[in-house]
Amino acid sequence: MANAADTTLDAPALTLSRMAHPAPTSAEARAAVLANPGFGTHFTDHMVVIEWTEGRGWHDGVIGPRGPIALDPAASVLHYAQEIFEGLKAYTHPDGSIALFRPEANAARFNASAARLAMPALPEETFVEAVKQLVLADRDWIPAQDGASLYLRPFMIATEAFLGVRAAKSYKFIVIASPAGNYFKSGAPAVSIWVSEYTRAAPGGTGAAKCGGNYAASLVPTAEAFQRGHDQVLFLDAAEHKWVEELGGMNLFFALDDGSLITPPLSGTILPGITRDSLLTMAREEGLNVREERYSIDQWRADAASGRLLECFACGTAAVVTPVGRVAQGDSDFTIGSGGPGQLTARLKDRLVSIQRGSAPDPHGWVVKIG
Ligand code: PLP
Ligand code: COI
Repeated sequence: MANAADTTLDAPALTLSRMAHPAPTSAEARAAVLANPGFGTHFTDHMVVIEWTEGRGWHDGVIGPRGPIALDPAASVLHYAQEIFEGLKAYTHPDGSIALFRPEANAARFNASAARLAMPALPEETFVEAVKQLVLADRDWIPAQDGASLYLRPFMIATEAFLGVRAAKSYKFIVIASPAGNYFKSGAPAVSIWVSEYTRAAPGGTGAAKCGGNYAASLVPTAEAFQRGHDQVLFLDAAEHKWVEELGGMNLFFALDDGSLITPPLSGTILPGITRDSLLTMAREEGLNVREERYSIDQWRADAASGRLLECFACGTAAVVTPVGRVAQGDSDFTIGSGGPGQLTARLKDRLVSIQRGSAPDPHGWVVKIG
């Protein structure tokens, strides 16, 4: 991104200089990607980069061609993993407009993660504007088919060349975009999960922050889950190894036969999911007895065996709402309900997706139209 700026976009919080792309992807190559985007393997033509330095704050925002970034080999992020990220999606609505889903919630969580990782806060308007400008620059990359969208990945890295262990004095905020279909390759109607013996997060740790280090630590347990033929890893609490926390990249819900819907509380060790929060709101509106409370793996197994547990589902931006059909721990496993999708899961998913995709009214003001 070293070319001269040729246009300037006016953002409320920070002005992004625009660099023209010398060779954007051809319409044919883009159409081939959009026909079958998968998850996380294809990227759009542009990216946003904004710099932060101590004493100067956020400056030099650019939207330009996506490409490699230069980093000093001593940059703190490469040694001490001072990195945070977000995930949100852009959708094309039936009227042809483009919308984001609750981007301010991602901006707020980004700053909560930044605070935990000793990184500078980014004004929420700048976060949302950067995402918006990228989506508009790459609007032809939003897949149109049902279930597909443009996944946005804002992130921040520590760039200072310094090997002492303390918060860095310079950072880059970057946004990239990736056309996305189903997160789960199998495309199975319900996923299977593996209960790990590893711990994801302990009280006082970084479990509630969306930092890369949490995911690095989940890779061995995730590989174990895959080797055993499961789709996701589940983590129990660090202290008692008993209470259900969350999956590698999703929150969990349990629907019981007495009309209650349980999800683990935001204890500081799990990610406060925006999908989780949206579903809690919708379930309360439906009159379900919604409970944010601890649920043990033993209770889960017992409730699945007795039939008291009707449905279980995972939720997150990438996974949307995905039924969980089977759970394995050590040498034993159990099935939930019929092992396939249940009615409540399907209804909540449909209500959420309809709002996100603009085919139902948006009573909570969650949808932000950007173009
Ligand atoms: N938990 C973890 C560990 C995640 O990575 C994610 C995905 O972002 C979630 C939960 C769900 O969060 P959200 O609904 O905000 O995408
Ligand atoms: C998301 O849902 O946005 C996530 O970050 C989960 C995973 C892809 C890391």
